Amino acid sequence: MKADTQNPLPSLDVWEEDVLTRYPEPFEKAKEDYRNYDEPGRDTVREFYRLNHTYQTYDFVREKEAEYLKFDKKEMPIWEAFDFLNTLVDDSDPDTDLDQWQHLLQTSEAIRADGHPDWFVLVGLMHDMGKVLCLFGEPQWAVVGDTFPVGCAHSDKIVYPEYFAANPDTYDERYNTKYGVYEPNCGLNNVHMSWGHDEYVYQMTKHGMPEEGQYMLRYHSFYAQHREHGYDHLLDDHDRAMFEWVKKFNPYDLYSKVPTPPDWKKLRPYYEDLVAKYLPGALKF
Ligand SMILES: [Fe+2]
Ligand SMILES: [Fe+2]
Repeated sequence: MKADTQNPLPSLDVWEEDVLTRYPEPFEKAKEDYRNYDEPGRDTVREFYRLNHTYQTYDFVREKEAEYLKFDKKEMPIWEAFDFLNTLVDDSDPDTDLDQWQHLLQTSEAIRADGHPDWFVLVGLMHDMGKVLCLFGEPQWAVVGDTFPVGCAHSDKIVYPEYFAANPDTYDERYNTKYGVYEPNCGLNNVHMSWGHDEYVYQMTKHGMPEEGQYMLRYHSFYAQHREHGYDHLLDDHDRAMFEWVKKFNPYDLYSKVPTPPDWKKLRPYYEDLVAKYLPGALKF
């Protein structure tokens, strides 16, 4: 991926690595162990959030939902889809040590090692599949980044909230009140989230996926809620119960990097059965 004005990050991973510096692993490792940031790296992250917060408007989200949730772009057998996702390799960032596939497999293996149900393992394997949006030409700021509700006031719990000053919704009376187009505690299913890989993979895999898994996929980048509780006023009781699972998933996403890659040859039969149990043979994009 070449850095340009729409895509300031040297790679998508830089966003996740920045999340790690905000939420370092408790107890074990200091943040320096994960990544040493030089200032230019930081600047690309800031620029990335500036674009994300400027352009993720209510109208933009509705447009992308209409465009992508028809799933009429491509159909691929699931194992081919992983290869497709992995073409998102990045040679401009010498520090990127994991490809997309390794991150997915390491996440799912960490979940499996802790004895969680098999669909939770599947969530680990699938959770970033939505990043194929980049391969369909979407800019980084419409694929990754912390997600947040659109159509109502932006919480100051969202990272770099000052960049919302450039978002037109900030000045639109329909969208800039606490509840905006929503009702108090209306439930997140009624709320539109900023567009990105979470909503896309949730919609892509929701049939057959247990609801706990659907929540984990759909809200795994919603740090302003699952870490910061900036949107309690939109959640209903059911969301609150389900967010326990979203919280359970997050450490596996952030802290499951291991030095030795899992032995895929040995693992393959397990994952083939797992995928066949919950997902159709071909994924629609
Ligand atoms: Fe993700
Ligand atoms: Fe991830």
